[in-house]
This record gives sequence, structure tokens and C-alpha cells, in this order.
Amino acid sequence: MPVTIPEGQVYLDNASTSFPKPEVVADAIAKAVRIVGLTTGRGTYFCEINPDDITVKVRRMLARLINVDNPRRIIFTYSATDSINLVLFGALGEGDHMLISPLEHHAVSRAVHYLRETRGVAFDVMPADSDGRIIPERIAEVVKPNTRLACISHISNVAGTVQPLIDIGAELKRLNVPFMVDASQSAGCHAIDVQAMNLDVVAAPGHKSLLGLPGSGVLYLGERLKPAPLRVGGTGVKSELYHLPPELPVYYESGTPNVLGIIALEASLGFIFEQTIGAFEERCRKLCGRMLSALQELPGVSIVGPTDPAIRAPVISFNVEGFSPKELSELLADKYHIAHRGGLHCAPMAHEFFGTTEYGGAVRVSPAFLTPDEEVEYFCDVMEEVTADLA
Ligand SMILES: Cc1ncc(COP(=O)(O)O)c(C=O)c1O
Repeated sequence: MPVTIPEGQVYLDNASTSFPKPEVVADAIAKAVRIVGLTTGRGTYFCEINPDDITVKVRRMLARLINVDNPRRIIFTYSATDSINLVLFGALGEGDHMLISPLEHHAVSRAVHYLRETRGVAFDVMPADSDGRIIPERIAEVVKPNTRLACISHISNVAGTVQPLIDIGAELKRLNVPFMVDASQSAGCHAIDVQAMNLDVVAAPGHKSLLGLPGSGVLYLGERLKPAPLRVGGTGVKSELYHLPPELPVYYESGTPNVLGIIALEASLGFIFEQTIGAFEERCRKLCGRMLSALQELPGVSIVGPTDPAIRAPVISFNVEGFSPKELSELLADKYHIAHRGGLHCAPMAHEFFGTTEYGGAVRVSPAFLTPDEEVEYFCDVMEEVTADLA
């Protein structure tokens, strides 16, 4: 029997941005825009919402989420790209060298190519196994005396590969190389522990698994790196100075922040703590296992990256014999109303690593904690229908 196609969409594109958001997030946003002027450090508030207090609170919540002692080291940015750019462009210059993983998103890979072309910053890719997981004991092979930073995407936005950050962090500490993690696909749904993992920098967007809004980003900056600021301007404090106040976090927060984004994070982080990160991890592992086993049983389907749910997240890219990713993508969207993403996913390095560049990438589906089970089952049924003739 053919699958029944829903009138609305089935949302399997959480790797792009999370949907749905928790109800408390929608409520908090709607309430805030109605009753308060959205700025911080610059205004006076005569209502029950005080953005200054919320900003302080959200810094503390984020510090708790990733086990940081000093919340002043949590900096609000406008996206993960913004956080990553701040560190790369602020800290690296002529003669420096850095390390990256083979699975980086363009937020890192374009930035390092740009830095190489414009500033002569060199980079090498750390050795990895066939799943794209860095091999800690081989990192020393690519470290140089001028290696200033290693940057790794915690969870690949193509293959879902989860990097073994504890072991990598221990090795980078031994080698005295500062460690930056792009937590775009992990912050909010996967445990991150700055102290246990020896992390110097964590970058994350507010709109993915932190369940907040686009235009909000987060940066944890440890003591070892002191990047120059990317933006210089008003901070709302110490207006008598013609230079930036040197203290964190204002040194890196010139300009009116995305207050609505911060208010959304207060609500979404509250939801995440209430549910617990352990519950997020467990549900993601379950969804991942269900989708992988369904896809593996189908004829003509090849999955990109690891097939063991223990070392991957439910960011699942795949190809189907006889379809280009573009054709399959159009079919899933136009006929079956499945929101997903096809192509190279802003991560051509990862597709090159897994040998999918020549096909034009792959089709990616990415359920998350709030994805209803029925939507996952619908996808599995659709894929059975799509591949029926290949048997
Ligand atoms: C691994 C990874 N890094 C960085 C980014 C960039 O995030 P943003 O566009 O929110 O800056 C993404 C977004 O897809 C991502 O998946």
C-alpha cells in the first residue's frame, strides 16, 4: 500500500536548524517582544522581564551546560560561524600553523583557506580512521613548533561522526596545543565537559540543538587564547573610554546583542536541563539506531560514515542507487513533503573524505529529541517505497 503523504511537512532537518522548538521558547519570545525593549546594559526596565538579569543568568546556564567555572568566559556572538571566526581571525597570523579534522564545516574550512591565502597561516589535517574519527595517538605526527590551535567539529554535520574528545583533549594537552571545538551539532544534545575534555574554546550556534533562535551564538573562551576582537564599538559600559574595556565578556561583545535570542536561550536551556542531556543522548541514539537499521535493510542504499549508533549522532547522510542526491532530494521534498538537506552540506571536506563528492554529495536527514516517532516511521516507510524497485 502506498504511504499516506501528510499535508504539512515532516521535519527531518535539525542539523540545519532545530524544529520544533519547545513551547516554552515560543512563549518566552512572544511575551518578551510584547512587554520589554530588547537591549542590555543600555536601558532601564520597569517590567517583569529584565534583559540584564537574563543575560547574566543565561551565561551561568551555559557555563553549567559545558562545565565552565567562570561564566564571564561565556561570550554571546551572532552564530557559530561568528564565534569560530572571532577566534581564528583574532588569534592567528603570519607564521602560525593550525590543525583541523577531515570533517570540518565551511565555518572552519573556508576560514582556514582564507587565512592561508591572506595571512600565510598554514594548516594540516589530523590523521583519522575510516569513520573520520581522529586518532589521538597520531596527532603528534602533524604538530609543529608553531602549531597554535587544533580545531575539531565535535559531531560531523555530514556523517554524524562523534569525535572522542576526552582522548583527543588529553593528547593535545600533552602536546601543549590549544583545543577549539565546533559544537554546532552537539551543544544542547550531547555532553560537553570543558574540564574533562581539556577544551580551550567551544563555539556553538543558538539555533540548532540549543533550541534557540538564529542570530544567536555562543563562545566559551578559556585563558590560554587572547584573540583580538573582531568588532569594536559600544558596550553599554565605560563609555568614557576610547578603547574597549579589557574585561570579559564585554571585550568581545560590542554592539547591541541579540537579546531576543538570549531570552530564547533562557527558556530552551531551562527545557534542556529539565529533560537532562542524558535523555537527549539516549533519544538521539534510539532515533539513530532506528533510521540506520531501516536504511541498512533497503536495497541500493549506502550510508555515509559510521553505522554504529554508539559513535554517531542522528545526522544521517545517504545515497540511493540510480538517483543523484539532487533527484532524491527533489523526490523527498516535492512528493513526500520531507524537510531535509541534499548536496554537500557546506562541508565538502567531509564528502571528499567519504568519497561522495563525485555523486554531488548525499541526502541528509536529521531527526532530534522533539521529532515525533511517527515522523521517523513515515520516513522509513517512504524509503521502503522509494527503493522498492531496486530489490
Ligand atoms: C558543524 C557545523 N559548524 C558550523 C556551522 C555553522 O553554523 P551557523 O550557520 O549557525 O553559524 C554549522 C551549521 O550547519 C555546522 O553544522
